[in-house]
Amino acid sequence: DAGDAEKGPFPYYMLKEITEQPAVMRRLLSRYVDADAKPQFDAALLKALASADRLYIVAAGTSYHAGLVGQSLFEQLAGVPTQAALASEFGYHMPLLSAKPMFIFLTQSGETADIRQVLVNVKAAGYPTLTLTNVITSTLAREADYAVDLAAGPEIAVASTKAYTAQVAVEALLAAALGQFKQVPAAAKSDVAHALSLAAAGQQALIDQQAKLHALATALFAKTRNAFFIGRGTDYFVSLEAALKLKEISYVQAEGFAAGELKHGTIALIEQDTPVVAFITDPKTAARTRSNAEEVEARGAKVLRIAAASLAQPEDQLIVDDLPALLTPLLTIIPGQLLAYFTSLDRGYDVDRPRNLAKSVTVE
Ligand code: G6P
Repeated sequence: DAGDAEKGPFPYYMLKEITEQPAVMRRLLSRYVDADAKPQFDAALLKALASADRLYIVAAGTSYHAGLVGQSLFEQLAGVPTQAALASEFGYHMPLLSAKPMFIFLTQSGETADIRQVLVNVKAAGYPTLTLTNVITSTLAREADYAVDLAAGPEIAVASTKAYTAQVAVEALLAAALGQFKQVPAAAKSDVAHALSLAAAGQQALIDQQAKLHALATALFAKTRNAFFIGRGTDYFVSLEAALKLKEISYVQAEGFAAGELKHGTIALIEQDTPVVAFITDPKTAARTRSNAEEVEARGAKVLRIAAASLAQPEDQLIVDDLPALLTPLLTIIPGQLLAYFTSLDRGYDVDRPRNLAKSVTVE
């Protein structure tokens, strides 16, 4: 079960929370999907979202990375232009808003000060607001017009794991429900409920490969000072989040890059044995990302390729199940989380309580 705040047999909360992700997927299915496998949300909320000409997903940290995936989900499943934004920037450098915007605050804790500052401003301007949060009694849940529970159960480790996958899953369910409400053809065709049950099974298969992931983490990151994660589309968004995980708990200087951008600058940093993790799950861009992986390998990088089953090649060291491209972050982030976890463990750090970081940042 993913419901309690006890560590139980796990050495760290982070590992417990990583392990709970398949149970969280199943809980979200039972909570937000009806007997006909259709996602269900409050009718007033869907009506408000359907009246918006543009959605702004405002978030920070890991939640922002989930918001980037949400941007694609709302655009493709619900047919509404959507922009993910960093709360700390948005509040002071507001973009030119559309005529009828709606604001979605994506936040594990529901207490992040950077987000609240935006919420106060947009509420004062009279715009509709929704908070997606793991703490339904939180300040941001109470202060928004609508609130939806991420239902991931208490997340104690500072590095966010199950809240990220819950955010991606809830965004997918809500985008599909909105698309169905608006009769967007892509939403009728999408079977998000089925994809999420496949995701739960695929996550479990990755969690079951901890020994292999520990060995890969040691081989790649044991002695390194820096590391790169690359991908395109949703694989790029996962690269940002996987790099953040490694930075937060192992203090390796890690960066996520759009694979095609490497050659425009960052490739200068590649030296003998620089670790590079490449995510390859989208048939549209798999060949391109593979050639970017070869470019860095030719310059001495140690490359770990993580690929979807139907795209797998002999050089791929880790395979994830196939899922629709927009939902592969639910799988590919699991090795990202576990690589960071084992690197922190190898280096002897307190995985759950990294230096300089707080679980929830209530000052701007
Ligand atoms: C802090 C945490 C991060 C988290 C971010 C946003 O910086 O250390 O893990 O992603 O806040 O938090 P929220 O609760 O708004 O999702």
